[in-house]
Amino acid sequence: MSDAPSPPESAPDASDARPQGPATAVVTGASGGIGLEIARALARHGFELHLVSRGSARGSAARDAVAAEARDGARVHFHPADLASLADVRRVAGDLADAAPTLDLLVNNAGAYVHERSLTEDGFERTFALNHLSPFLLTHLLHGPLAAAAAPRVVTTSSSAERSGPIDLERAAYGVPYNALRAYGWSKQANVHFARELARRAPHPALRSYSFHPGFVNTNFGSGAGLLSGLVALAQRAFGRTPEQGAATGVWAATQSPAPDPNGAFLVDEAVKTPSAAARDEAVTTALWERSEAWVGLREEERWPRREGAA
Ligand SMILES: NC(=O)c1ccc[n+]([C@@H]2O[C@H](COP(=O)([O-])OP(=O)(O)OC[C@H]3O[C@@H](n4cnc5c(N)ncnc54)[C@H](OP(=O)(O)O)[C@@H]3O)[C@@H](O)[C@H]2O)c1
Repeated sequence: MSDAPSPPESAPDASDARPQGPATAVVTGASGGIGLEIARALARHGFELHLVSRGSARGSAARDAVAAEARDGARVHFHPADLASLADVRRVAGDLADAAPTLDLLVNNAGAYVHERSLTEDGFERTFALNHLSPFLLTHLLHGPLAAAAAPRVVTTSSSAERSGPIDLERAAYGVPYNALRAYGWSKQANVHFARELARRAPHPALRSYSFHPGFVNTNFGSGAGLLSGLVALAQRAFGRTPEQGAATGVWAATQSPAPDPNGAFLVDEAVKTPSAAARDEAVTTALWERSEAWVGLREEERWPRREGAA
């Protein structure tokens, strides 16, 4: 695996250049599981890190654990935020933009499986709000810091659960009728649509965007009451990858030089993989993007048009 903050050996084109000198990354959902292991690995690469999760002792403990592994004393910061709240996404994005005016890497990893239908304060189904609308809005709001970097990357944690068939956008957004497995699968397919479309629309032409499947990983994911949760937890313990193994493809997407091709790709086991036909449906990709702009209340100046000739 390459060492992202080190100077490249030869002079690559701008889209493949990794930062020279210290690089800065934001990782959401880094208080445990896959996100914590991504953050640890990035700390060993020398990234200055901004970790985002809900305000809890877990977040501060994660910051200290990651800082203990930081190369060359790179700094690690914790920013508490409830990413299921659009207002809190806007608030923390402002804090992050102030703290990291140049941002080389954004890892959109926070996510959840929500057993019972639940609406956020904004009126959206919680899985869709946290797993899709939050990274969609956060990425837009951090476009200034990302655009200030020479070769920015955005890596979004998806899942093989993206193979859940064509998304019904209104049902996904509001969860009526609710089916937890489908809601989760559609939110993870939304990550694949988002990563690909971001590669086309981001105002910075050198920006690289990927989604990835971490595998079936032994984390707190899906924990809760009920028989299904108990069975999943047992299966995770028996058959799951370690969180470090689950983080590997995300770290690869973030640090590999040259950057994986094509821009916008879905990655599994450190390789490009073709996602489901539903995730490749261009009409859905466009509709999801445009509906999401409205759902998160993007202002006119925050919108990105599709670039001709992009991936
Ligand atoms: N585990 C698997 O087998 C698997 C497979 C495929 C994909 N994934 C994906 O991997 C990603 C990470 O999952 P994981 O397995 O590492 O699960 P995890 O151990 O439950 O970690 C989830 C992370 O997201 C944060 N988070 C949850 N709700 C949040 C909220 N409202 N606001 C801010 N942060 C929030 C959690 O922090 P706090 O609770 O401290 O806020 C935690 O840091 C998710 O996107 C998931 O869809 C997991």
